[in-house]
Amino acid sequence: MTGINSGASVSIVALALSVILVVGCGSGGARSEEAPSTRGIKAPVVAAAGDITSCASSGDEATAQLLDTINGTVITLGDNAYEDGSVKDYRECYNPTWGRFKDRTYPIPGNHEYRTPGAQGYFGYFKDAAGDPSKGYYSYDLDGWHVVALNSTCEDIGGCSATSPQVRWLQTDLDANEGATCTLAYMHHPRFSSGEVHGSTTEVRPLWEALYEAGADVVLSGHEHNYERFAPQNPDGKADPERGIREFVVGTGGKSHYEIETILANSEVHDDETYGVLKLTLHPEGYDWRFIPVEGEAFTDSGSSRCH
Ligand SMILES: [Fe+2]
Repeated sequence: MTGINSGASVSIVALALSVILVVGCGSGGARSEEAPSTRGIKAPVVAAAGDITSCASSGDEATAQLLDTINGTVITLGDNAYEDGSVKDYRECYNPTWGRFKDRTYPIPGNHEYRTPGAQGYFGYFKDAAGDPSKGYYSYDLDGWHVVALNSTCEDIGGCSATSPQVRWLQTDLDANEGATCTLAYMHHPRFSSGEVHGSTTEVRPLWEALYEAGADVVLSGHEHNYERFAPQNPDGKADPERGIREFVVGTGGKSHYEIETILANSEVHDDETYGVLKLTLHPEGYDWRFIPVEGEAFTDSGSSRCH
């Protein structure tokens, strides 16, 4: 599929189209959000959330209505179709809501997808857009940004140790794209979370180490069903304003809410009772973020950062 890459470099078609977009948009001015957003022609806006659809919740209908108004790339952060990511869950629960954005969605699986052996419901639904079913990780370019979609359900794909296939692939992929000023990565399990149900995930530290070494800027995660924004940190959770990675937990896709109690160091903003999506506007050397709540809710969060 155009633009998707599981170990090689970016497709020439996607690159050519992104060049056309860059030329068409000019530089320095506000980027249009009206650009075509079908796969292969990327608008410089992404909208992301995880822990999304369930036939037992109407939260996903509400977050899907937000995506109707955001013309950009849709990122799912895993646990996309409860309870088991089965063929039936995707057909009956995901497809009627977030399914209408399928042609502009770059997904990753979560642990619930693997409650169906081999995450076959997930890979069968998204097909080539999900990458190699034995891996579930891939990368692509988005208007000058390098974007890495990772699979943090490590036990199903050979682990996430420093010598695991995924971490070795990630290091190679980041090396091949070291010319990118800005790098965005996403994985279902958050390295850091103040949530009380799952909290932080030590197992993904080697993924963070590779990203940090390569100067990655932003990591998006879900798993905890709440919203949290951290200041830039190193893989051990030490504040690092110069080289650190800014993490957002966006497990607000609509399934349910998990409480936040004890707040971790460097957590800047958190909310545990609002469904919504995180919108990122990607600039050549930085980004704007805005949490967009579902209709009737007031919580929001916004700001801007420069890339390293
Ligand atoms: Fe999860």
